[in-house]
Amino acid sequence: MAFAYRNGTLCAEQVPLDELARRFGTPCYVYSRAAIEGAYAEYSDALAGRDALICYSVKANPNLAVLALMAKLGAGFDIVSGGELARVLAAGGDPRKTLFSGVGKTALEIEQALLAGVMCINLESEPELERVNAVAERLDKRAPVAFRVNPDVDARTHPYISTGLRQSKFGVPHDDAERLYAKAARMPNIEIHGIGCHVGSQLMDSAPFIEAAARIGALAERLEAAGIALAHVDLGGGIGIRYRDEAPRPVAEFVTGALATVKAGRARLILDPGRSIVGNAGLLLTRVEYVKPGAAKSFLVVDAAMNDLLRPALYDAWHEVRAVREAPPGARPATYDVVGPVCESGDFLARQRPLVAASGDLLAVMSAGAYGMSMSSNYNSRPRAAEVMVDGAVAHLIRSREAVQDLFALERILP
Ligand code: LLP
Repeated sequence: MAFAYRNGTLCAEQVPLDELARRFGTPCYVYSRAAIEGAYAEYSDALAGRDALICYSVKANPNLAVLALMAKLGAGFDIVSGGELARVLAAGGDPRKTLFSGVGKTALEIEQALLAGVMCINLESEPELERVNAVAERLDKRAPVAFRVNPDVDARTHPYISTGLRQSKFGVPHDDAERLYAKAARMPNIEIHGIGCHVGSQLMDSAPFIEAAARIGALAERLEAAGIALAHVDLGGGIGIRYRDEAPRPVAEFVTGALATVKAGRARLILDPGRSIVGNAGLLLTRVEYVKPGAAKSFLVVDAAMNDLLRPALYDAWHEVRAVREAPPGARPATYDVVGPVCESGDFLARQRPLVAASGDLLAVMSAGAYGMSMSSNYNSRPRAAEVMVDGAVAHLIRSREAVQDLFALERILP
């Protein structure tokens, strides 16, 4: 277990969290290397012996240490910006194992991707196909591409993270895909490499994922019959994790279902998971500043806020909150909203939780390894948290806490 109590104190692997708070301060993201490796192994074991590639979705947690760990494990990368490309390269990731997705790639980003030699650009529209062809022509290159096809499948997840429906901004319409592939095949600076889809995130059930895979697999066969060969089928990411009491189907069930839809030996299977690799491998460590009794509710005001972890405010997401020091037997918990110092009513990390806590105590907001630090901001001029990776008994600082001066270093006062 990556995070468990030992002698009454919550630990990351073998390191007590109170020790990390003393060394690195709070708020602080803490990751477990073993948990990341274990989550990756669920994919690599299920794909063993198959022609497949796991392209870790960088947006979930783009820290260079995480990316370097992924590269070392043999993963490729799914990126959505020039910034993420630069991170992959800085971390020693292989551009030839990198997919470039996203609906709004600029000409500059396309150029950077082609010069870096990415494996494939995932096209999300016809104008983008034309832009990629033009940039490739200017560089005298052939751009490897795939279309991200919208499979029109309901992922049955939170609407903000559901992407595979007809009305979504993502992908090209399923019914238009054959025409677009035929057009791409005629373009001189385009080389068709594959096909992709992604139905949404935090999927509990494998059925929509496998349904989308089957639709994409069938489309791939029609394209092949029309003389358009595909080297890969990318089925996206999206496999869910347990935050509270959800019971996501095992990774192997998704993977086996996906493999069944990709004809053996024909195309390579690509998956681009993010959350299921890093989500439960991280927590946000925070300290209680005040216990604030209120007229209607009581609050624990902590030193982490919505700028550190936006998911509760943005999606009403539920993250488990644990006291770092286990409550003594017989202690009676009170019910608290755990809130930050930011000036927004939406600034909460958890609501109505039974906790035993006093000012100065440490709390751990669990399952914060994915879309935690990566969605953080400097709202209220709050420096972003430090990040620490624990490896056995050793803790490594993998991102220093920002200094306040960093926040306005790029600003200028009028002369
Ligand atoms: N591939 C594509 C094309 C994607 O758009 C995404 C996520 C992934 C892979 C990775 O999905 P994952 O395996 O992590 O579910 N901020 C939201 C999640 C947004 C997901 C966006 N796309 C959250 O905190 O729940």
